[in-house]
Amino acid sequence: MQTKTQTTQAPPSGATADLPGPLPALQMLNQVARSLGYIEGEGSPFVAVVEGARTLLRADGVAVLVRDPSGDYKFHAAQGALEEWRDFTLSSQGSELLEALHSRDHVTFFKRKQKNAWSREFLLAAEMNWGALAPIRVRDQKVGALLVNNRGAVHVRDEHIEAFENLATLAGVAVQEVRVREGLEDLFMSVIVSLTMALEAKDPYTEGHSVRVAAYSEAIGKQLGLPPATLDMIHRSCLLHDIGKIAVDETILAKKGRLNPLEREKMDMHVLIGENILRPISLLHPLLPGVRHHHERFDGMGHPDGLRGENIPIEARIIDPRGGCARRAAAFGGVAVRSPRRRRLRADLPRRQENPGASAAPTR
Ligand SMILES: [Fe+2]
Repeated sequence: MQTKTQTTQAPPSGATADLPGPLPALQMLNQVARSLGYIEGEGSPFVAVVEGARTLLRADGVAVLVRDPSGDYKFHAAQGALEEWRDFTLSSQGSELLEALHSRDHVTFFKRKQKNAWSREFLLAAEMNWGALAPIRVRDQKVGALLVNNRGAVHVRDEHIEAFENLATLAGVAVQEVRVREGLEDLFMSVIVSLTMALEAKDPYTEGHSVRVAAYSEAIGKQLGLPPATLDMIHRSCLLHDIGKIAVDETILAKKGRLNPLEREKMDMHVLIGENILRPISLLHPLLPGVRHHHERFDGMGHPDGLRGENIPIEARIIDPRGGCARRAAAFGGVAVRSPRRRRLRADLPRRQENPGASAAPTR
């Protein structure tokens, strides 16, 4: 925000705040509108709106309340004097007032000395004496409210009221964006769960295997200090890492003895088949490296590309299905998978541990 340092200073109590003129207000709105397109990761999409309100009204506290399907309003973002209210749900009386705000469909101002329901409910700290509320709507739906609290009275002009309403509109855009993302996320996870179930229906021995590998791998990723977005990606990659086994013959999947060369060749194809199954779904593209490379080896002797060391994507290094996972999982209290092939792998462990650094990636 262009005047962030100014917004953190409280106006003298009861004085007229020096509010920005029409041009700076327009520039602020422009900046908020632009920032809505660049929200990534864990950041709240309301940060820019909240900062904009602090700039516009020299606010001491700003909050965005979002209406949930039950009609309750929850503080989704809160800064300054209202920060401690973040994640709180408004009382029923407060929610009723916000319903009334939507009926009015315009900005409502209130002062401590008025001692009305608005000031009692929405001046949320003892030293707050002036407040404003703007309804947030998306296509005529009641979505929430933008709340400002100030120590001193703010003498707003028409352009500030209009800009505050515009900020509420932008908050509505942010809410919409969050909902679209949540919808995509639900779709994303539904696709992953459906594919995992399809694999388990084909190969009962894999039942629960992907979920366990996902849990172990995420724990390893946490131990390595990887960021939450990477942990999510690792978790999802693990859930789907063996999806290509859908195309591998059941007799090979269930075979108790060692695979012959032809069977081994068919089994090894599952990484490429898995990649091809997922590639048409663009949402799943971030998971392709983990699926394709989870049988690479740190010593370069894996497949399908013989990648070596840190050339192997991090998620593929962590998945490590050749026994490294079982070994590492043990460190996290994990349970080994009891499939015929897994029992064989467990029997192989002492031999593998003669040179433990060859196939598994070092974890530090
Ligand atoms: Fe695999």
